[in-house]
Amino acid sequence: MDWGTYKTLRVEQDGDVLLVTVDRPAALNALAGQVVDDLWDLTGVLAGLAEGWPVRGVVLTGAGEKSFVAGADIVEMSAMDPDAAEAYGRRMHQVTLRLEALPVPVIAAVNGFALGGGCELALACDFIYASANASFGQPEVALGLVPGFGGSVRLQRRVGIGMARELIYTGRRITAAEAHRIGLVNAVFADVPALLDGARATLAEIAGKAPTAVANAKRALNSIADLGLEDGLDEEVRSFREAFGTEDSMVGRQAFVAKQTPVFPGR
Ligand code: CAA
Repeated sequence: MDWGTYKTLRVEQDGDVLLVTVDRPAALNALAGQVVDDLWDLTGVLAGLAEGWPVRGVVLTGAGEKSFVAGADIVEMSAMDPDAAEAYGRRMHQVTLRLEALPVPVIAAVNGFALGGGCELALACDFIYASANASFGQPEVALGLVPGFGGSVRLQRRVGIGMARELIYTGRRITAAEAHRIGLVNAVFADVPALLDGARATLAEIAGKAPTAVANAKRALNSIADLGLEDGLDEEVRSFREAFGTEDSMVGRQAFVAKQTPVFPGR
């Protein structure tokens, strides 16, 4: 599979898993315009794979052991006017929406600083794993700015509005352990190799399940996040019904009754 070539991303397929590494370690992997363009192009390639996905999940990480992504590129932003800033924000919003729309899970493997736009990029992944040296924060107020890549929405959904307010108003940096305690991070690993192994192991566990059901669950959970109770329940029953129309569910149900291990066709 040709995943494309990128100036600031490394894209490597390892069996069932696509490992995407933001690769600008000299600037702590900050989201320069080139990185945003590369993420846009890569998510475009991924979004084009409507069916027959060659991988069962994506791991997103940063190059080196110091930083996942240290945020928007402050050097580039230093000369930005409001119109350019709006375009920058909207472009990253589109990247994050594309990540959320992929039919396979995306795990953020946070291997160091996840600050500002870096924390926001991680929040657009399905969930976040971290190495013990990782740290998280929305430090925009220290620059006279506010979150611009989705943090105002996704951080409060992930950790609750009170905690999101405190993190955004103070710009405070928190450790991986604290991020785990407040539910921003699902699990913390001793070091970066253990972090990547942990992400791969979880994707392997998911890969043993029905592909159409995982994609359906991801779509439903994302759209239900925007809905109230009754509309959310409607959406759930729609996706529940859809699952019953798949070959995967037929195979899964029949295998249970026959006391066999299902082999899902992915349809
Ligand atoms: N943009 C551009 N360059 C950055 C960067 C960023 N966000 N973060 C770090 N760098 C660069 C530094 O300028 C430095 O480059 P030089 O070697 O050329 O001087 C290099 O990366 C290494 O950084 P430091 O020397 O600062 O490393 P450190 O270990 O002393 O500090 C740090 C690490 C605490 C993360 C510090 O670099 C820092 O505070 N970075 C900025 C973090 C931040 O504020 N991020 C939010 C940006 S705003 C945003 O993201 C808005 C939004 O919501 C979209």
